[in-house]
Amino acid sequence: MQLLVEKLSKNYRGGVPALRTVQLSLKPGILGLLGPNGAGKSTLMRILSTITRPSSGRVLWNEIDIARNPDALRGVLGYLPQDFGVYPHLSAVEFLDYLAAVKGIPAAAARQRISELLVLVNLADVAKRPLGGYSGGMRQRVGIAQALLNDPQLLIVDEPTAGLDPEERVRFRNLLSELSGERIVILSTHIVSDVEAVATDIAILAQGQLLAHGAPEVLLSRVTGKIWEVVVPSAELPSLRQKHLISSTAHRSDGVHARVVSDTQPSAEARQLEPSLEDAYLAALASQRSVVTGIAA
Ligand SMILES: Nc1ncnc2c1ncn2[C@@H]1O[C@H](COP(=O)(O)OP(=O)(O)OP(=O)(O)O)[C@@H](O)[C@H]1O
Ligand SMILES: [Mg+2]
Repeated sequence: MQLLVEKLSKNYRGGVPALRTVQLSLKPGILGLLGPNGAGKSTLMRILSTITRPSSGRVLWNEIDIARNPDALRGVLGYLPQDFGVYPHLSAVEFLDYLAAVKGIPAAAARQRISELLVLVNLADVAKRPLGGYSGGMRQRVGIAQALLNDPQLLIVDEPTAGLDPEERVRFRNLLSELSGERIVILSTHIVSDVEAVATDIAILAQGQLLAHGAPEVLLSRVTGKIWEVVVPSAELPSLRQKHLISSTAHRSDGVHARVVSDTQPSAEARQLEPSLEDAYLAALASQRSVVTGIAA
């Protein structure tokens, strides 16, 4: 099972390039696709789901070009779009029944699969209630269930944790890890902690460019030895920000504890810290910005 993205570009009419020669090679596992708003995450996912056509480049699913032969992928694809909407008057069972029919799954097989999925996404108790009364997290779980109807080999979920409370987020993450195995899962988000625990691979996209792709430990190794804790009075924080990239700050009684990303020790008192994926993500974004603007990060 292999998904190959070759020199993929997308230009919407009259807009800035949404994807610029993106190259990716994926094997079974969970890919966390990270990027700020407008990075091109949804565009990439829509192309992979055969909904949008690329301007140039191609996508190969097990060596088959999905633009030429979309059906080769569609039968084994599960997709949860970012703007997933439900019919408020239908219950979860009715809604999933309807989508199973649209996907051409025979009624008896669909019934069996739907009851299994409702247990998996923890909605069995409320399966007959109208979706209009569901919380955001419950609706997202219906979204995941519909994406899994055909037991997909490629599962694409676009910002599935947006709007979820912390408890729902954790539940969602656990669900995703249960689903991995012999399939490729692509999960987009702009929140690093959503993918930190579950992703086997991370890709960072910004302004349509793929800045990095690799195992979390590979991305971490790029900032190893470059993360420092600097403690300053809060009045000095703005000038510290001007000089350095700051990954996070915490206000304590002895001053502001800042996580600084710097190739060299920023001050004599600075203490080296273990890098986090958040540091690696911010450093990748900052280094791209400095290339684009010509200003040192
Ligand atoms: N249908 C469209 N028509 C024109 N431009 C579009 C369209 N969809 C996206 N874009 C533009 O393409 C770029 C990438 O958008 P995209 O939605 O793929 O980003 P994203 O990473 O998913 O962002 P977000 O985190 O906000 O969901 C943006 O500049 C956006 O304005
Ligand atoms: Mg998006």
